[in-house]
Amino acid sequence: VVFLEYAIANRMKTLKGSAIREIFKMAGKPGVISFAGGVPAPELFPNEELAQISADILRKEPELALQYGITEGYMPLRKAVKQRLLEKENIGKDFDETIIVSGAQQGIEHAIKILINPGDGVVVEQPSFIGTLNALRSYEADLYSVPVQEDGMDLDRLEDLIRKHPHIKMIYTIPTFQNPTGVSMSIEKRKTLYELACKNNLIILEDNPYGELSFDDEKLPTIKSLDTEGIVIYVGTFSKILSPGLRVGYVCAHQDLVGRITVNKQISDVHTSMLPQMMAYEFMTRYPMDDYIQKMRALYKHRCNFMIEKMDEHFPERCSHTNPRGGLFIWCDLNGDFDTVEVARECAKDLVVFVPGSTFMVDMEKKSSGFRLNYSNMGDEAIEKGIRILGRSLTKCIGK
Ligand SMILES: Cc1ncc(COP(=O)(O)O)c(C=O)c1O
Repeated sequence: VVFLEYAIANRMKTLKGSAIREIFKMAGKPGVISFAGGVPAPELFPNEELAQISADILRKEPELALQYGITEGYMPLRKAVKQRLLEKENIGKDFDETIIVSGAQQGIEHAIKILINPGDGVVVEQPSFIGTLNALRSYEADLYSVPVQEDGMDLDRLEDLIRKHPHIKMIYTIPTFQNPTGVSMSIEKRKTLYELACKNNLIILEDNPYGELSFDDEKLPTIKSLDTEGIVIYVGTFSKILSPGLRVGYVCAHQDLVGRITVNKQISDVHTSMLPQMMAYEFMTRYPMDDYIQKMRALYKHRCNFMIEKMDEHFPERCSHTNPRGGLFIWCDLNGDFDTVEVARECAKDLVVFVPGSTFMVDMEKKSSGFRLNYSNMGDEAIEKGIRILGRSLTKCIGK
């Protein structure tokens, strides 16, 4: 039976299922080496600690954990998040407020729903995170893209777009260890981007799930920390520094906007589940969170360097790649007239999967010679084997 096409709302019609669904389906199968996900190393999950914490919560505070909670979030967690944001990122001052949401993805969707009318212009980095691209498509935004350069978005191109299209309202950016490129925006560009947004009355949606996963101690200021005018919406999450399954994230933005997000959350999921909020809070207070994150940073640094070393050994010479200083991803480019959707299909036959570049583009129909590799989720043996096989498959597809 086919569902009635006319019954589908217009806003969903630009959203298509992924053309590479069959590749993703393979990712979890035995024997397949997947560089496709964007997920943390499961062996680092603090299973025992979280088992103890959840048992304690359910025994000692069941009336809190199992009852409805307030929409803005479990108060102790909210306070702890605010304090962490202030201490680490110097954000959350004056006119700003923070709300707990069910993952960064929900925060992003709320911000878009509240601000974007059908046909409003939104600029995104190209390539960019598909979760946000699809959220923008579902609210019928008019999407424009600017290329990601070695030091972040191409601001000349951005300025050009802003000049030409006065209906542009918002800029979406992942300035630190971007998904999918792993690239970070320079401090100078962060400042210029903020000034550009102020001058043109634009909102910046700053998405920062990977900022804490840096390989060294250099820290880049968030754009939100520069925000004296209340135009930056900052979205963060526990997904990459604790567990994505908990579904706990947060939004720090102008209090009026957080007020609107609160109303919207009431019609979305009422509040983020209490037990995971309480677990995140307990974990933050019982254990040294930064030590735990430090372990992740060291492991990901090793895996990233190891993967690049193997890529340089096995990949065709024409294939270039980024050199991330944190986060979860390396972006590769075959530098030629290649379609990595086709290449990914070929490589999947050899049981290695990755995400082809077109997935991260505004126009997904256009072919892309880029692709994304994830290094956080695999041990050395799988990385070595996977990259060796991938090198062979790539050479078969595109030559030396
Ligand atoms: C750039 C970016 N933003 C947001 C998210 C969503 O994170 P969450 O699990 O907190 O919803 C992801 C997840 O992969 C991401 O890569």
